Amino acid sequence: MRHFLRDDDVTSDEQRQILARGLALKADRFVEKPFAGPHTVAVVFDKSSTRTRVSFATGIADLGGSPLVIDASGSQMGRGEPIADTARVLSSMCSMIVWRTFGQERIDEMARYSAVPVVNALTDQFHPCQILADLLTVAEVKGGLAQSGPALAGRSFAYLGDGANNMSQSYLLGCALAGMDVRIGCPESLSPDPEVVQAAEQIAATTGGRVSVTHSAQEAVEGVDVVATDTWASMGNEEAGHAAEPILAPYRVTAELMALGKDAVFMHCLPAYREHEVTSEVIDGPASVVWREAENRLHAQKGLMAWLMDPQQHDQAPRD
Ligand code: CP
Repeated sequence: MRHFLRDDDVTSDEQRQILARGLALKADRFVEKPFAGPHTVAVVFDKSSTRTRVSFATGIADLGGSPLVIDASGSQMGRGEPIADTARVLSSMCSMIVWRTFGQERIDEMARYSAVPVVNALTDQFHPCQILADLLTVAEVKGGLAQSGPALAGRSFAYLGDGANNMSQSYLLGCALAGMDVRIGCPESLSPDPEVVQAAEQIAATTGGRVSVTHSAQEAVEGVDVVATDTWASMGNEEAGHAAEPILAPYRVTAELMALGKDAVFMHCLPAYREHEVTSEVIDGPASVVWREAENRLHAQKGLMAWLMDPQQHDQAPRD
């Protein structure tokens, strides 16, 4: 049994398999039914969500299952029931647990006590399902579709903004796994966790990718295929985000920065705050692929769930 708690819980080959499966499910939406029964999948939220909630609920139904969407505030989890006890109960009845929560240690604990696969639907440190959707989108819009799955190696991807947040850290790992040139442009005081940068560098050394962190937005986007950003006020960290606005202002994605790319497309996981991390001109302009990116949450996550429910695909290759 495998879990998907951070981007590097899968190998580079496995990432490609998952994305290829997602693309196949996008082409033929109801072709796989791994949750036929229907089996129930628990989708639990400690934080608010629109895209993740809808895409998992829809994807589970498409795969023949029954989504059980739980807001922690309306369950015993919100009253402090131990994670281990919740894991034992949910996994005795459900076929998978999808969880959006706070610290990564919480989802690690859920996985430790769960008898079924656990999927990270966003933690403070990582947002790996979003990165699967983003990679699928890059493959579609930049022509990286090969018979064996998305061919993303060599594509360059710049993320501007808070380098210490979950999107930045997941881009480092996920893009490195895909063999891409991933660049983080951020203020020095909002740099990614060195452990994550080191893990991404080690991955890149095996995939032919490249990893860099710079404090110059211009340097990050020079000649790049994709420019991405995220809200400056991450969920649960809004106050710090607002306080950091002055140091983040040079990383706002503007038409001038986009013009430094190589026919670059613009991506944002949403929700977006126009005129903060990105101008309206860019997010609502012709280079923006944010709506395709949002829809691809559905297809990429279906690829992931179908793969996790197919042990023949991965039982020989657990992560270290
Ligand atoms: N991108 C993302 O995770 O969106 P939601 O917060 O709406 O789920």
